[in-house]
Amino acid sequence: MPVKHPPPLGLYIHMPWCEKKCPYCDFNSHTIDQLPESDYIDALLNDLEQDLPLVWGRTVETIFIGGGTPSLFSGDAIDRLFSGLRALLNLSASAEITLESNPGSADIEHFRAYRETGINRLSIGIQSFNDGHLHALGRVHDASLALQAFASARQAGFDNINLDLMYGLPDQSVSQATADLQQAIALKPEHISHYQLTIEPNTLFHHRPPAAMPDDDLSWEQQSACQTLLSNQHYRQYEISAYCLDNHHCRHNLNYWKFGDYLGIGAGAHGKITLAGENRILRRVRRRAPRAYLQSQGRDSITSEIELDASDRAFEFMLNALRLSSGFHASEFVDSTGLSFSDILPVLQKAQDLGLLTLDQWQVCPSERGFQYLNDLQSMFLDLDITKNQAFF
Ligand SMILES: C[S@@+](CC[C@H](N)C(=O)[O-])C[C@H]1O[C@@H](n2cnc3c(N)ncnc32)[C@H](O)[C@@H]1O
Ligand code: SF4
Repeated sequence: MPVKHPPPLGLYIHMPWCEKKCPYCDFNSHTIDQLPESDYIDALLNDLEQDLPLVWGRTVETIFIGGGTPSLFSGDAIDRLFSGLRALLNLSASAEITLESNPGSADIEHFRAYRETGINRLSIGIQSFNDGHLHALGRVHDASLALQAFASARQAGFDNINLDLMYGLPDQSVSQATADLQQAIALKPEHISHYQLTIEPNTLFHHRPPAAMPDDDLSWEQQSACQTLLSNQHYRQYEISAYCLDNHHCRHNLNYWKFGDYLGIGAGAHGKITLAGENRILRRVRRRAPRAYLQSQGRDSITSEIELDASDRAFEFMLNALRLSSGFHASEFVDSTGLSFSDILPVLQKAQDLGLLTLDQWQVCPSERGFQYLNDLQSMFLDLDITKNQAFF
């Protein structure tokens, strides 16, 4: 089943520093006082230059600058980054370009400069509007700074804004979780990402768990109440944690969930690239520790490159696509993996029998129960043995 075209292409740029490390965070982010701005921008552009042969002739449809706290970077630094990106890349005129920011680690001058540079979507890490919960999460900002950041973003001209919020916080009631969302909705952001706080290994919260973490029942109650509230206020849930007004879904993340391609530049960044002519899909990871990454400047910062075999392709496709409320069409599976739909059909039918998904007219959709037990549903596709069917592009 040859694939005629590689999937759409995005670019992820990682900025690995924050004002202060949060005790629940396991992202590649590190506390820093003095940013090595200029050296880091050089290193990012060097990464990109080295990756160009993998994507000759392809257009970049989306860029996501994530972290860490990218909004610590000055307008001038981001401007120099974009001059370099535009010189090297074929960037679509209608590209979605997102930058992540933290209240308290950004001001209106930064936002204005980012907007002028061409960033057209801003993501603000609010987490909660409750000062007690923000304190428990070790955040550097309070609710008033969060509101100020949103107002500044609008004033700077951003008409596509995402707010990150978390629920399942220590000692949080259902009404406190919905109050956070009500405050967010009152601001009318185009997009809301609503994550359940998870306790990750290698975080301070893992070593010293906070008291009064909600149990599964309370978290589920919070999630259901929040879903109802968002849907009543016209926020459409299109992914397990993502809600938007109208058509303001995050195109960059949607490309991940549809098993699209992306280059990853910066410390610890991941990339996934389809080499259609060679029948290969590569996953690549860069050196993670920021200092070591910077020291490798001028050389290749890739530390691992693996080629996905047929079973990897099927599992990774399902891991992502099952997060989407609209699921996927059989043709999307075939087009982006190069596999046959019959490779996953028996497991899909088993999941359907368990009430975890629906399979109708070649469209596969997770059910409400499937969303509730998403990990179980995804893991059903973990042990597929389809090595005998050659994936072919
Ligand atoms: C990588 S962070 C970057 C955003 C920004 N630095 C901030 O913290 O506001 C992206 C988002 O992931 C979410 N997040 C981080 N750690 C989490 C955890 N342990 N559980 C659930 N969500 C988490 C937070 O909502 C955060 O805004
Ligand atoms: S500010 Fe964001 S990226 Fe930085 S440590 Fe906190 S949650 Fe992680």
